[in-house]
Amino acid sequence: MATQRKSVKKETAKHNGSEIQPAKGKLGIMIPGMGAVATTFVAGVEAVRKGLAKPIGSVTQMGTIRLGKRTDARSPKVKEFVPLATLNDLVFTGWDIFEDDMHAAATKAGVLDREMLDEIKPFLSSIKPQKAVFDRNYVKKIDGPNVKKGKTKMDLAEQVRDDIRNFGKTSGASRLVTIWCGSTETFIQPSAAHQSLKAFEKALRENDENIAPSMIYAYASLMEGVPFANGAPNLTVDLPVMQELSRKNEAPICGKDFKTGQTLMKTILAPGFKARLLGLNGWFSTNILGNRDGEVLDDPGSFKTKEESKLSVLEHILQPDLYPDLYGKFYHKVRINYYPPRGDNKEGWDNIDIFGWLGYPMQIKVDFLCRDSILAAPIVLDLVLFLDLAKRSSELRGKGIQEWLSFFFKSPMTAPGLYPEHDLFIQSMKLKNTLRHLKGEEMITHLGLEYYD
Ligand SMILES: NC(=O)c1ccc[n+]([C@@H]2O[C@H](COP(=O)([O-])OP(=O)(O)OC[C@H]3O[C@@H](n4cnc5c(N)ncnc54)[C@H](O)[C@@H]3O)[C@@H](O)[C@H]2O)c1
Repeated sequence: MATQRKSVKKETAKHNGSEIQPAKGKLGIMIPGMGAVATTFVAGVEAVRKGLAKPIGSVTQMGTIRLGKRTDARSPKVKEFVPLATLNDLVFTGWDIFEDDMHAAATKAGVLDREMLDEIKPFLSSIKPQKAVFDRNYVKKIDGPNVKKGKTKMDLAEQVRDDIRNFGKTSGASRLVTIWCGSTETFIQPSAAHQSLKAFEKALRENDENIAPSMIYAYASLMEGVPFANGAPNLTVDLPVMQELSRKNEAPICGKDFKTGQTLMKTILAPGFKARLLGLNGWFSTNILGNRDGEVLDDPGSFKTKEESKLSVLEHILQPDLYPDLYGKFYHKVRINYYPPRGDNKEGWDNIDIFGWLGYPMQIKVDFLCRDSILAAPIVLDLVLFLDLAKRSSELRGKGIQEWLSFFFKSPMTAPGLYPEHDLFIQSMKLKNTLRHLKGEEMITHLGLEYYD
């Protein structure tokens, strides 16, 4: 052990007083919710490992980062610039209320072609769901048999902690990360039970209804010092207790709600309108989708959770307080319609009523025939790799919320009192500048006057 510690110390990169430990050994990915997104992610990682496809859409795998001046011609790949786990280092487990292994679940989700899934069948079939912490009061539209039993929510949390420790041992992983890819839970507001670790643990023992299953996974992970990302719009880690636990146990957290589909489009288009000072009268968004996520969102409670997450985006990007003439009165509506024939291949329409010079109106129509899980899978990959990086960084691991990962979320978590940054381009710059900072490289300001001296 002593020699191991010594060698780690020697290899640890030190910049600006901050250190990043190397990504040695396997990284265990633990996923509550083995549905469309989770299976598309895991199958995709294996397909890329086998050379069957490319990791399109992944910042860590395909992205580059410019360093220094434009004339320096230094633009390494992100994965070569910061020490990340490689795809070959990843091992997986998950929990679900259904007993299907990952091959069966991926086949049912119907996102990836049969032929591709069959080429990686032995690998996918080997990943079987552990029994879930589940309660229909929080997700009304589904029910399944693969569920843990326990007298109190604390008992259930202990069982998840056991699962985590067992996976750590049996997988041989040296580090772990949890990412919630489970269904969207019903709308819950923060309450007294969520304000401190003491209150939360008391509430766990008393089966308080304010504690949803996703919070139990989050608590268990953070108690084990394991970073946690939240891919759904549920509160989950967006609570004082989780922030306290995250900082205390140096287990970074981030969330919430993967930024895909229509909201991705919104955060690409709206910053453009604002940059050009074009006004907005209204933005009507509607979707049809027919996967299980769509079915869950057909329940008003789950939809409300999603709606809150989707609606906040424009307000924050357009800043009506600063631009009352342009954005003081816009009408924003978001609908999601469950329509089974489409499966995972969602269609999202946007009607955008903008106005220009002297108030003259114009319209923009967007019809995005997207594939939800195809857009979400690379986000899952990037998040687990970056959260693991954060855990190995002396500067980031104790900070709790990793706001630099806002890029990947519809409702980015921030420190209390800070408004979230929704503009995709600001988020991208924030992410890359954080990586530059961690490695002691200059921030890029795009000033560029020196080229004309
Ligand atoms: N696909 C996207 O683009 C996208 C974007 C943003 C957010 N999300 C969110 O990601 C989540 C997953 O999406 P999906 O399309 O894979 O949905 P899905 O319905 O295919 O998969 C969710 C899985 O979670 C399981 N589950 C539910 N509660 C659970 C619990 N308590 N413990 C363990 N498993 C549980 C369900 O049985 C199901 O298999 C949803 O909350 C969705 O809203 C998806």
